[in-house]
Amino acid sequence: MDVLEAIVSRRSIRSFKSDPVPEQLLDQIWEAARWAPSAGNRQAREFVLVTDDQVKRQLCEAARNQRFIEDAPVDIVVCAHEERSAQRYGERGRELYCLQDATASVQNLLLAAHALGLGACWVEAFNEQLVIYTLNLPRGIRPIALIPIGCPAEQPFATSRFKLDDLIYLNRYNVKRKHPWEVYEK
Ligand SMILES: Cc1cc2nc3c(=O)[nH]c(=O)nc-3n(C[C@H](O)[C@H](O)[C@H](O)COP(=O)(O)O)c2cc1C
Repeated sequence: MDVLEAIVSRRSIRSFKSDPVPEQLLDQIWEAARWAPSAGNRQAREFVLVTDDQVKRQLCEAARNQRFIEDAPVDIVVCAHEERSAQRYGERGRELYCLQDATASVQNLLLAAHALGLGACWVEAFNEQLVIYTLNLPRGIRPIALIPIGCPAEQPFATSRFKLDDLIYLNRYNVKRKHPWEVYEK
């Protein structure tokens, strides 16, 4: 599956079979996460792999009891490393770049999981303090996403998207493109 196909065919998966995720697939998912871009290549992100049932249950409770977090064979918690970014970029690093570094790896994780035939979902609706407490995260390691991963037990329909014409302006905000090819016309 090429990357463009993976991008358009990926869906959020919220129902998983009980089969374990093969180690070898997990390794490829980690590689995808590791190779995501980052500000100044600071790679201000870290990950917690959760396989323990009790920890999964606590994460599920921290995330408004979204049951599939507990049901998934593994959860990956993606964390922003605030200091690693702040050391070079100060407040902008702490407040923005480390979040973007971590977020870029989330998208890579999701696409890699899908390309490997696995399912995953990006979960952000959680109580941050409870996740910090559950995982024993030190100060400055901020959990920004929970990603349950497993073999999909559902095939959801595609969700809707805005039309490109509603999203893209030409040269200045609110200036509409008339036709895509006008971008290249003199
Ligand atoms: C920032 C962010 C937070 C999200 N939080 C949740 C969540 O807490 N629970 C959930 O089930 N899905 C969550 N999602 C998944 C979205 O609901 C999903 O991506 C969106 O509906 C589009 O569907 P698709 O991923 O199948 O294309 C989140 C996605 C993003 C990007």
